[in-house]
Amino acid sequence: MLTLVSPEIDDYSVSKSEPTSELLQELIEITHRDTELPIMLTGPLEGRFLKMMVQLIGAKRVLEVGMFTGYSALSMAEGLAADGELITCDLDPHCIKIARSFFERSPHGKKIQIKEGPALETLKTLTGLFDLVFIDADKVNYPNYYEAALALLRVGGVMLIDNVLYSGAVIKPDSESAAAIASLNDKIAVDERVDRVLLPIRDGVFVVRKR
Ligand SMILES: C[S@@+](CC[C@H](N)C(=O)[O-])C[C@H]1O[C@@H](n2cnc3c(N)ncnc32)[C@H](O)[C@@H]1O
Repeated sequence: MLTLVSPEIDDYSVSKSEPTSELLQELIEITHRDTELPIMLTGPLEGRFLKMMVQLIGAKRVLEVGMFTGYSALSMAEGLAADGELITCDLDPHCIKIARSFFERSPHGKKIQIKEGPALETLKTLTGLFDLVFIDADKVNYPNYYEAALALLRVGGVMLIDNVLYSGAVIKPDSESAAAIASLNDKIAVDERVDRVLLPIRDGVFVVRKR
């Protein structure tokens, strides 16, 4: 992934943000050791941002699409009240095994429920409304996730969509994934159902609030 923000600025930002738990740091190490694409981790800065968003809106019910080894899920769960709930979707058994082992070791893990399988199918089975949704799975399905998640979001709820700059490729899309994200960005830009701001954090995070 092309670094949109210089590593020095990223490191500085991390150093001035709330430190992460030792467990989250260990999860980064294990993900680098035991998975092929550790670059998929949201990492410390975005993880702190996700936790902050959960806290700011006082979210009680969070939905995540794309868990990987659980870094973002655990970061958001830290910001949830003790009776809060986070439902997260993934289809990779190896990642799910790693995530589960870390959730079991965290005091926040009991708030997290893993739904194994294709996320679009899982979303169809969910009932009730969510306060916050984080989208971070297969990019070609982003437009589908957006519509499904918007229907599950309460009015005033927030959707966070990751990688919306796609290393800058959204300016001139050169792949199916980049084209799908660019097309979703175009749609959100004029979507009167939501308030919206695209932040250049890490690989770009679209912050969308349902009207
Ligand atoms: C970018 S990673 C998520 C990173 C994670 N949020 C974190 O902070 O570490 C994307 C994840 O989406 C999962 N994924 C891909 N296609 C999926 C699908 N159709 N349904 C559910 N999960 C999917 C992959 O297995 C992968 O673990």
